[in-house]
Amino acid sequence: MVVEVLSEVQRRKWDASDDVLFYAEPRFVQHLDGAFRARLTRLYRERLASRAVVLDLMSSWVSHLPDDVQYERVVGHGLNEKELAANKRLDSYWLQNLNIDQTIPLKNDSVDATLIVAGWQYLQYPEAVSAELLRIMRPGGQLIVAFSNRMFFTKAPQIWADGSDRDHLAYVAEVLIAQGWPKPELMAEPTRASGLQGLIGGHGDPFFAVIATKP
Ligand SMILES: C[S@@+](CC[C@H](N)C(=O)[O-])C[C@H]1O[C@@H](n2cnc3c(N)ncnc32)[C@H](O)[C@@H]1O
Repeated sequence: MVVEVLSEVQRRKWDASDDVLFYAEPRFVQHLDGAFRARLTRLYRERLASRAVVLDLMSSWVSHLPDDVQYERVVGHGLNEKELAANKRLDSYWLQNLNIDQTIPLKNDSVDATLIVAGWQYLQYPEAVSAELLRIMRPGGQLIVAFSNRMFFTKAPQIWADGSDRDHLAYVAEVLIAQGWPKPELMAEPTRASGLQGLIGGHGDPFFAVIATKP
C-alpha cells in the first residue's frame, strides 16, 4: 500500500511537459563534479558487496561504481536510450517514465542495492517508487539516494525546488519511512575541489545521501 506524503501542489513542476521530451537528446556530461563523484564511488566501495545485484535507477551513461569491482549484475534504468547504451557498467537496462508509471518491472526480493543519483529530485510520485523499491529489494539490501545542491529547476517538483539541502534529506527520509522503510541514515558532507582550488580550501559539490536498509 502506498502512503501519500505529498500534496498535489507539492508534486507540480514548472515544466509539466512529458519528461521524455526533456531527456530526448543524450547528454554525455557529468551532472556532478569530480569531488562529489569520488565521494560517491568511495561510498559504493564501502557499502556494496561484489556479489550484489545492483539497480542503478534514473541512470545515464555513468554509474559511478568502482571500476575494479565486479558485481553479480548491474541493471540500469533511465529515460535516454543512447545514454544507457553507452553506460559500460550496465548488463541490461530499460526505459520508463517514473512520473507516469511507478511499477518497477523486477521481481520481489531480487535486488541487493538500488542507487539513485541526482534523480530523486525529479520524482513526482516518490511514495509509489519507494514502495516498489521495498518490494523488489532483498532483505538486508541497501537503497542509496545521493544528490547535491543543484537540479534542473524546471523539472523538479515544488517540494524539491522550494526546499533547502536539509529539507531534501528530511523529505527523502519521510517518504521512505511512510512506505515502511526503517529510519534511514543521513549523510551531509562538504567535499574538497580537485587541484589547486582544493589546495587553497575550495569546495566541490556538497555530498548528501540517504541510505536505507530493507529489514
Ligand atoms: C541529472 S540526471 C542524473 C543521471 C545519473 N544518475 C548520473 O548520475 O549521471 C537525472 C536522471 O534522472 C532520470 N529521470 C529524470 N526524470 C525521470 C522520469 N520522469 N522518469 C524516469 N527517470 C527520470 C533520467 O535518467 C536522468 O538522466
